[in-house]
Parts: sequence; C-alpha cells; structure tokens
Amino acid sequence: MRTCMRLIQVLLVVSIVPVARSGDPPGSLNHRVDSLMALMTLEEKAGQLVQVDFRSASPADPVTLHPDLERRIREGRIGSVMNAVGADLTRRIQAFAVQGSRRKIPLVFGLDVIHGFRTVFPIPLGEASTWDPELIMKASRVAALEAAAAGIHWTFAPMVDIARDPRWGRIAEGAGEDPYLGSLMAAARVRGFQGDTLASPNSLMACAKHFAAYGGAEGGRDYNTVDISERTLRETYLPPFEAAVKAGVGTVMCSFNEIGGIPCAANEHLLREILRQEWGFDGFVVSDWDAIPEMQPHGFAGSPEEAAYLALRAGVDMDMEGGAYEAHLVSLVRSGRLPEETLDSAVRHVLRAKFALGLFDDPYHGASADRERRAILAPSHRALAREVAGKSLVLLKNAGGLLPLRKDLQSVAVIGPLADDGESILGPWSGAGRSADAVPVLEGIRRKVAASTKILYARGCGVADTSTSSFSGALAAAAGADAVVMVVGEESGMSGEAASRSTLGLPGVQEQLFEAVLRLHKPLVVVLMNGRPLAIPRLQEAAPAILEAWFPGVEGGDAVADVLFGDRDPSGKITATFPFSVGQVPLYYNHKNTGRPTIDTVKYTSRYLDGPTSPLYPFGYGLHYTSFAYQSLKLGATRIRKSEGLRVSVDLHNTGSRAGEETVQLYIRDLSGSVTHPVKELKAFRKVRVEPGRTENVQFQLTPESLALYDRGMRKVVEPGLFEVMVGGNSKDLLTATLEVTAE
Ligand code: NOJ
Repeated sequence: MRTCMRLIQVLLVVSIVPVARSGDPPGSLNHRVDSLMALMTLEEKAGQLVQVDFRSASPADPVTLHPDLERRIREGRIGSVMNAVGADLTRRIQAFAVQGSRRKIPLVFGLDVIHGFRTVFPIPLGEASTWDPELIMKASRVAALEAAAAGIHWTFAPMVDIARDPRWGRIAEGAGEDPYLGSLMAAARVRGFQGDTLASPNSLMACAKHFAAYGGAEGGRDYNTVDISERTLRETYLPPFEAAVKAGVGTVMCSFNEIGGIPCAANEHLLREILRQEWGFDGFVVSDWDAIPEMQPHGFAGSPEEAAYLALRAGVDMDMEGGAYEAHLVSLVRSGRLPEETLDSAVRHVLRAKFALGLFDDPYHGASADRERRAILAPSHRALAREVAGKSLVLLKNAGGLLPLRKDLQSVAVIGPLADDGESILGPWSGAGRSADAVPVLEGIRRKVAASTKILYARGCGVADTSTSSFSGALAAAAGADAVVMVVGEESGMSGEAASRSTLGLPGVQEQLFEAVLRLHKPLVVVLMNGRPLAIPRLQEAAPAILEAWFPGVEGGDAVADVLFGDRDPSGKITATFPFSVGQVPLYYNHKNTGRPTIDTVKYTSRYLDGPTSPLYPFGYGLHYTSFAYQSLKLGATRIRKSEGLRVSVDLHNTGSRAGEETVQLYIRDLSGSVTHPVKELKAFRKVRVEPGRTENVQFQLTPESLALYDRGMRKVVEPGLFEVMVGGNSKDLLTATLEVTAE
C-alpha cells in the first residue's frame, strides 16, 4: 500500500507534468528535472537553494521540529537540512516536505561525517598515514553505511585541502601536504562514501571541500587570507579536487577564504571556469557555513543581498545556513537584476542530485530506526576501525629496540593526561561518536597484558594544565613499574575548525612531566595523540621510544596496545612534515630549491642563524620493528622519449629479525625546465611486506603523466631535459638515478 501511494506521488510529481525546455528524451534525468521545474514557482525554486541547520532552527529541543521550520518546509522554502541526525527524526522532517509541501520535493539531509559516524576511525591525517587508499575507501564505506541508515544522505567530506602549515588546526581533517597522495585519498574517500550508485540506501553523497586553497591561510590562522599564484593553486591545491571530481563526487563546498582579493564564494574562475568548464563537474556547489553573507566583512559585498547576487552568479548553488539566498534570491530575480536562468541552472544542479540519490523514489533513502540499530558499531565496523587505527600509527623513535614491550611485564605504569581519555581519542569532527563507545589506551593495555601484570595508572596533569601539583602520583607509578607508557599530546578541540595554534610543542606542563619521568631512568615509551605535526625536538632527543597515534578513534586504545605489545608491527608513515620549531613553518618536502640552497655552515645560503632548516621528521618517515636497506635502484632506460613510460626497480632488503611492511616511495625532480620545479615530488608508492633476511624486488611503471609538469604557459607537458628519479623509505633518505628525457 505504501509503495503504491509512493508511486502515485511520484507520478503526480514527475510524469504527468508538462515538459519544460529540455531536449532530453522523456524519462531521462534532465527531462524529469525540467518537467518538475516547469511546475515550480520562483519561491519554490529559490527554496531548493536554501540549507538550514536543524540545531539552530530548533534550538530549544533537538528532537522536536520547531513550528517555524515546519512551516518553511511546507512552503517549499528549504531544500536541505543539516545536522538532523537519526532515522526517526529525519523521517519526521522529511514527511513535512514530501507530504506537506505543494511540490513534494524531498529534502536532502547533510552532516559532517568526516572520519566515521558512530564507529569513529582515526582522523583523516592519521588515516592518510596508512598510505592505503583501498583501506580508507573501506572506512568511508562503513561511515556511509552507518550514517545512511541514520537518515543522512550527504556528508560534507572529504576535506581534500592540502595543508603545509601545522599551526592550521584543520590539517587534522585532510591527507597532509602532498598533492599526489592527497588525490589518491580524495578519490578513495569519494568512492567509499558514494559506493557504486548514489541511489543505494547504503550510499552517502560526498562533498569535496573547501574549494579552494583554504589550507593556504596566512600564518596558519583559520579563515585567513590566501594569496597564491595560479601556478601554486594548480600544482599544489587543486589536484585533489580534480581527483574527487574524476571519482564522481556529487558536490563541492566553496571555502571561506579569499584568493588574491576574491572570496571563494564569489570566485567565477574557480567555480565556473575550472570546476565546471575545465573539469566538467555536473553536481552542485554548496557554500561553507554562512560564507555568502560573510563576504560583507571580507569587504567584498556591500550587503547580504549583494552577497547573494555575487555568489549565485559565480556558481554557488546552495547557501549553507547563511540566510542570504532565502531572503534575497526571489527579489533579485523579480527586480530583473539576476536572470532567472542563472537561478534555474542552480536549481537544476540541486534537483539532479536529489534524483540521483533516488529521493523521488524513496525520500527516506531506506533509513529506519531498525536499520540504524543494526548498522552502528557492528562488530565488523569496529574490527575495521581497529585495523585502520593500527595501520595509521607511526613509530617515530625506538632506541635500542625498546618496543615492542613484553606482555608479561611484572608491572607497567600508564600515565599522562590522555591515557584514560575516551573523548579526545575520537578526535575533532567525530560524527555521532560517543566517548562511552571508545577504548582508551589504558583499557587497551589492560586487555592486552598478562593477568599477572600490574597496571599502575595516574594522570599526572591535564593536557593544558599550568600546574605541576599532580605530578607526584604519576611519578610514584612510574618509579614502581618495569616500563612506563606516557600518553601525552593535544585535546581533540585543539585541532579542527577554528583551532589554530601559534606554538607546536606539547601544551601545558606535559613536557615538564616528561622530564620528571625521564629522570627516573625507566624504559619509557611516549605515545602521542595530536591532530597536527608537533615540534618536539626534546622528546626526539631524550625519549627512548615515541609512537605517534594521532587521534586514533573508537578502537584507538586496542590499536595502540596491539602495536606497543607487538601484535601488530608499526607501518604508518607521516604525510605532513614535523618541524623542529614553529619558526620553520611552512615546512614541506616538495619545496623549491632557491639559487642558494641551504648549507648549514655557509652564511649566504637559505637558512636560519639559530636553528636547522631541515625537518625533525621528514614527509614519508616512519620506523618499523625491523629495518630495511634499499639497494640496486635501476631504470629500465636512462634515456627515454617524452611520450614513453619508464620502468623503475629497487631491491628492498629486510635487514632485521622481524617481518615488516614498508612503504616504498618514488619521487622525481625535473632538474631544468621552462619554470622551476620542487626538489622532489612523490609520483608513486608501493606497500611491500618482506620477511626477515629476505629481499623483494619492487617495481614501478612510470607513465609520461608522472613526468608531466605545468610549463610556463600552464600546460601540463613533459619537457625534455634531465630528471632525477629517487626511491626510498621516506622523502629524505633516497637512492637517486638520473634520467634523460628527449623530444620525440
Ligand atoms: C564549517 C566548516 O568549514 C565545514 O567544513 C563544515 O562542513 C560546515 N561548517 C558544516 O558543519
């Protein structure tokens, strides 16, 4: 009966309506969209471009629908609702649209599902440290399964912003500093969220954000001005967006920042010329939260009305919670200032997405309380979260092979402000995650060690404490233990949006706690939890072992314990450079060389008087419980034509006594060209497992595309000349071979 009613509803809405202007065949997507639009009033069309935040619209009570919101939905003045979570709630809201509004057009429900829904995975910076796009695709799939069951159709993810400045809190949400790795991760996440078809009840429509160059904020201060060249834009910041578009991303979010004087919410060059014309993007563009009216304080638009005009004209289809489209689009069209065709084109983009999601066939997208209950935190989801977290951990130091620890130690002290923290371990933007679901490190260790092992726990201090008055408990615990695991770092709120820092050390008195514990001369393992590269030279100098855990998510404690006690070998590699000091940033591996490259002892070279120019840990760095040697780098030819590919091979020898999985990285450098190029650019990598004492031959096949770079005219071409091909286990320690590329 319900299906029958729905069918009648769909027929009423879509089929028996006059065809508007599409030359597309009946039944095609465009035909259905145009047929529907022909029946809509100007107000209803403008309504499709309005997104409201459920929490602000129903502030008093998060589960009751505010009468005003209900009225606006019934009047067709809202096209999308964000931050309404749960199958029951979203179904109730949707019913007002599909039963109570004149045109019965379904709402699309959006939420920030960034690294998991209830099953929270590591923060994206941690996920990227796995260097395993397939695995990250699976994690995004799980996020989609859970969120879709809870009534969400659309996630504001992936964040694909390249970040070269760890002061910027949102570095936590992306894949780090490299455009190539960032592009692979972007595509993997889009595929994972969207699945095979958006119409599947298991799919979430993805959103590549923040378009563009949001990570280039001056001083690493969130929302700040970006002033970069077209070359830097295209070489560094745009590739992951293009990869997301190629992977079929349904939506793109414009960013808060300006570039060279134009706010991205009104940037026709980005939104129309590059996104739509060059890349052929056919989804819709949503503004970031309030970004349209914020063009007033930017000093770009004189009023919210002007901002609405500029944004729509530039190609922003939907206004996220800004109120400018709702208040002004209709009058802008009625007054003749904004051509109705401009508005229609935006409406078309939004309606096409709703059809693609299948919302006209099932406005609830298969969500139900029962499905939601079954999906969230399913054992297989938790198992995947543990695997991803385990593979995201990066071993930064392991002096004397202190790790792995034995499970049958007599006693182990677990100390530090984050050791028993089930909240921060989830990280920023943790979806519907709950601390009660999380396994803190203390609990993970408890589950891991022998029944006879005594665990001594004391916090020692809070993350941001300025007093050392609670140190004594932690020192007593450490003094009486065979080994000490000290979990320090940042609170989750110290990264993410509006969470930039001007320093990069451990906050508060944590480093003092570390020094005090160090004086006890115990086997000491530092576990770091943080959302950005930290400047921790003293830890690197003095701590026997350091394990970077990022914010590892709901299974974080088990995953950390797996690695600490040797049930999993560490294999993660950092994807953003760790500096020695904040004064070095921005510091990234793929920098240009200058005419006077750094020589530490020579004055008139590009360097600092009072500190190193090199990083603390370079991009791509991460240790194992075994060691590897790279030998015999060979090129298939030392001279190739520019249209030819190149085979590269290297021998990877496991020189230690345990098996290990290495990420073999290949970089190139164009030594001379019509413009300067970075000293290294990642072009390929492979993860290879090698048994102790064995050697694996690792091969890469480079295509001309790998050698192509933007020339002086901004064309992507291979320029004849000399190249270096470099292979190794991080961006610093590399074997190098020279290649000559000739014209045809
Ligand atoms: C602002 C953030 O910049 C964006 O990433 C997010 O999706 C929206 N708020 C919605 O929460």
